[in-house]
Amino acid sequence: MTRAAPRGTTTPLSIAPMMDYTDRHFRVVMRALTRKTLLYSEMITPQAIFWGGRVDLLRYDPIEKPLALQLGGDDPALLARAARLAEELGWDEVNLNVGCPSDKVRRGRFGASLMAHPEVVAEAVAAMRQAVQIPVTVKHRIGIDDLDRYEDMLAFVDHVAAAGADRFTVHARKAWLNGLSPKDNRTKPPLRYPEVYRLKAERSALPIEINGGIRTLSEVEAHLGHVDAVMIGRAAYETPWVFADADRRVFGAHNPVASRGEAALAVVGYLARQLDEGIRPHHVVRHLLGLFHATPISRAWKQGIAAIGQMRGPEAARALEIMASRVIERQAA
Ligand SMILES: Cc1cc2nc3c(=O)[nH]c(=O)nc-3n(C[C@H](O)[C@H](O)[C@H](O)COP(=O)(O)O)c2cc1C
Repeated sequence: MTRAAPRGTTTPLSIAPMMDYTDRHFRVVMRALTRKTLLYSEMITPQAIFWGGRVDLLRYDPIEKPLALQLGGDDPALLARAARLAEELGWDEVNLNVGCPSDKVRRGRFGASLMAHPEVVAEAVAAMRQAVQIPVTVKHRIGIDDLDRYEDMLAFVDHVAAAGADRFTVHARKAWLNGLSPKDNRTKPPLRYPEVYRLKAERSALPIEINGGIRTLSEVEAHLGHVDAVMIGRAAYETPWVFADADRRVFGAHNPVASRGEAALAVVGYLARQLDEGIRPHHVVRHLLGLFHATPISRAWKQGIAAIGQMRGPEAARALEIMASRVIERQAA
């Protein structure tokens, strides 16, 4: 198989694109815990960007980088246009969604349904790669419906790799497009990690990232013995503190904070700036809800965050500062 060398270097750890979660506020909150992990946007369609008045979805704070934009769609020209805009705005990578099984996605020919149309994905990837210099990557499933053998995935990957995809992120379970809800499609089909390892073994030149059901850094380290990178989704918002040791353990760098309280305190300045712009505090602080998960103060912390979310104006930032400082003082005592 001849193909251009992959662009960019593969970041060994990333946080998955997740609709309604991985907005710019979430990403800033995660940056209080890890500077090195690659962060993704939510899935965005070119239609929303160009005609839906949602260019704001491409806004980010420089601290969020490195940053990948995930696009959903099947129109090569539109995807290429969106990729170009992303590159102009300074995004570090553009990713195509070939994994989402929601009804909305199924009605258009994109998301996981595209696994049955590798030629369409290849055309889209080729158009995007021609339009930009940043890496163009693909996030997909092991398979869909009856198209779920390892050989089917390999054929898909080979087709799309030949078009120049710079990395493949494999959600290691198939999706049932008819019969399972999007939520069930993230839990019911069994995880099939060995097939992702096999893909890497048989296509060693291709950067391969594994995703699905991974919740701890020990698991990340184990997967990195087989593949180039690991993507974590739900654990990032359910148990964000997992990422607090990622920079040291995965990247050999210094961690940004030593305690959960410090992480919350690090968000105060950002929250204050957002409030000045008229953003409601809930939109920022909701991403702090899981910070104290499985600690004795988890419940009290969530109640405090919920209350801050309802406040108006600068008092919300002040309240977060006080709450975080109290936690830090109590830990020091
Ligand atoms: C709330 C939610 C929203 C998601 N939205 C997207 C999305 O926009 N694009 C995408 O490719 N995957 C999306 N996913 C799937 C995740 O990126 C990931 O592949 C999946 O959750 C499996 O990883 P995990 O087990 O670590 O959560 C979403 C998952 C969740 C839970």
